Amino acid sequence: MKKVALIGLGAILLGASLTSCSGGNKVKNADKPLIFYNRQPSDPQTGDIDMKTMNWNGSTYYVGFDAAGGGAVQGKLITDFFAEKNKAEVDKNSDGKIGYVLCIGDAGHNDSKARTKGIREALGTWNNKYDAGASNTKEGVIHCKDGDLVVVELDSKEMKGTDGSTWNADAAGNQMGNWATQYGSVGTNELDMVVSNNDGMAMGCLNNSSFPKGTPIFGYDANADAVAAVGKGDLTGTVSQNVDAQAAATLQVIRNILDGVTGDDVVKKGITEKDQYGNKISAEMTYLSETKALLAKNVAVNKANWEQYKEGSRDTGIKKSNAPEKKVLLTVYNAGDNFLSTSYIPALQYYDKLLGLKVTYVQGDGQSETTCLDKFVNLDNYDAFAVNMVKTNSGQDYTEKLKF
Ligand code: BGC
Repeated sequence: MKKVALIGLGAILLGASLTSCSGGNKVKNADKPLIFYNRQPSDPQTGDIDMKTMNWNGSTYYVGFDAAGGGAVQGKLITDFFAEKNKAEVDKNSDGKIGYVLCIGDAGHNDSKARTKGIREALGTWNNKYDAGASNTKEGVIHCKDGDLVVVELDSKEMKGTDGSTWNADAAGNQMGNWATQYGSVGTNELDMVVSNNDGMAMGCLNNSSFPKGTPIFGYDANADAVAAVGKGDLTGTVSQNVDAQAAATLQVIRNILDGVTGDDVVKKGITEKDQYGNKISAEMTYLSETKALLAKNVAVNKANWEQYKEGSRDTGIKKSNAPEKKVLLTVYNAGDNFLSTSYIPALQYYDKLLGLKVTYVQGDGQSETTCLDKFVNLDNYDAFAVNMVKTNSGQDYTEKLKF
């Protein structure tokens, strides 16, 4: 894929118009920066990127992380774990098979799809389907130190709460109870591993009293509680999607555009090179011009490196700026989402002050878009918008509101 290339002429023109507007002219809402983050505008079924929304104006971007790459990192984390074990250590009932269960986050979310695929590909169970259920998988193989074992996905489930919210940790915990009965030592004793599309659900499983102690279990996100659990040896591994780099980049792109930065520099300044205030994100970021997506890297976290990912390690490359204060309205799809509430928002709240951005945080319930849209109001009062949609195909509901 083509990396940093031309950003549309629109961005250049808009940058110029924002600069000239600092003289007192009012910028139309339709011309203000619009950054989607964490939930990429896309078709929930196919995963195709919603380019109509992404091309809303020259200052529309997505900031996230390399979802497909992350799925592969999670898959490798798991296969690396088995590569260091003897068969007898991991195959509980010595039937020559590794049986695993999978917690799916949100079937319509690109991150969730990428992880399901990455896990199944690494284990050889991928059968060209993202859907939940063993019937959508095939038998795979895994390499151990002393030979190979067959791999079977015993079951998988999209974890929806009773309220309809996705990535639901409680639903995962309850399901873990069922799986333990069905496939654990009181059942067929074929459950050798638990894999989850995120840490919230993995911790839900781990904290369920019937979780078969000592069973390898893998999550994703490197939330503080999950990293601590890796340190204690309870969670086998997780993946960092580099939340600090993402949060800082979401705000930095806004800062750049509002400062009148134009062209490629919008996705470079303060990101891959120093901006006028001397700021630069330390982690590696990649820009994909064809989808207008600025992406952070993923890193596998396990017993060997967990200490580097402990709570509170912030990016020292971002320091205080003397930039004029600007106002941002930012939506969060679900106030109850583990990753957003314990990792992403605290990071945003740390960097917003440093970048001179006064951010108004509004949060939805994770099920109905209107819980966010109803708070996406008084738009004239803001200089820029950052949006985290409930449904990834709701982009136009937000851009419609910006027309006025
Ligand atoms: C995270 C999940 C989170 C979701 C919310 C994903 O990138 O890994 O934990 O629930 O974003 O959109």
